[in-house]
Amino acid sequence: MAQFLQLSDLHVVEEGALASSVLDTRRTLTAVIDRLLEMKAALDPLDALLVSGDISDDGSADSYAFARAELERLDMPIYVVPGNHDAREPFRAAFANLDATPPSGLIDWATTIGDTLVVGLDTLVEGQGGGRLREDSLDLLRNALDTAGQGPVVIMLHHPPIKTGIRFMDAIGLENAEALEAELADTRCDITLIAGHVHGIHHGRLGHHRVATAPSVCSGFALDLRASATVGFLTGPTGCAFIDTAPGGIWSAVPLDPSDGPFPF
Ligand SMILES: [Fe+2]
Repeated sequence: MAQFLQLSDLHVVEEGALASSVLDTRRTLTAVIDRLLEMKAALDPLDALLVSGDISDDGSADSYAFARAELERLDMPIYVVPGNHDAREPFRAAFANLDATPPSGLIDWATTIGDTLVVGLDTLVEGQGGGRLREDSLDLLRNALDTAGQGPVVIMLHHPPIKTGIRFMDAIGLENAEALEAELADTRCDITLIAGHVHGIHHGRLGHHRVATAPSVCSGFALDLRASATVGFLTGPTGCAFIDTAPGGIWSAVPLDPSDGPFPF
């Protein structure tokens, strides 16, 4: 088994700036890490921190340095994939000395944590919001699954391979989810696909495999399925995800908005 904390969509900006002119994402991230440090004993043992992209909002080296320093306060191994707001080379530079981060090319990786194979796939296409899986990424995934044992598998990518019904987000989703579905169609591995990008909790299926998206630590989107839905974000709800890959293990949302209690029943 292995237990993971998944953080997504931090959207950190340069010092003094606000993300989308509204969100003080540096202050939010510091508060989130403080909160998680208070909660950590309740979730232990945690084996690793998985961060599913949009770590930066502006791609600046300063935003990555700040995010890295904040994430390191959790004192866990860190694994990262980029999102559409990230810039691949500054991202790589900031996380270059992590075990899994490759020195060049796409930021794809595979590693084993406990009995769990964890694969990170880079869906970033710089200059656009939507994501795409390249042949190199699918090759790495195929090779990792070919050599996997009987243990569970977690595949992390920024753009979820499912639709949420939020049209303006689905429009910038994963362009070729069908290629991933085809790649995974015949495997008997117990796979959980985890993603971010949609700033909310959505569960679905890719073929017979589970897909779960994590909330963002800084903002959310209304589940408004109308074609007329207003394009834009909300300041909440925020949170992260807890993933237990043991038999009978569970995917749980960890709310991060302020709340009081617990009060006795
Ligand atoms: Fe995002």
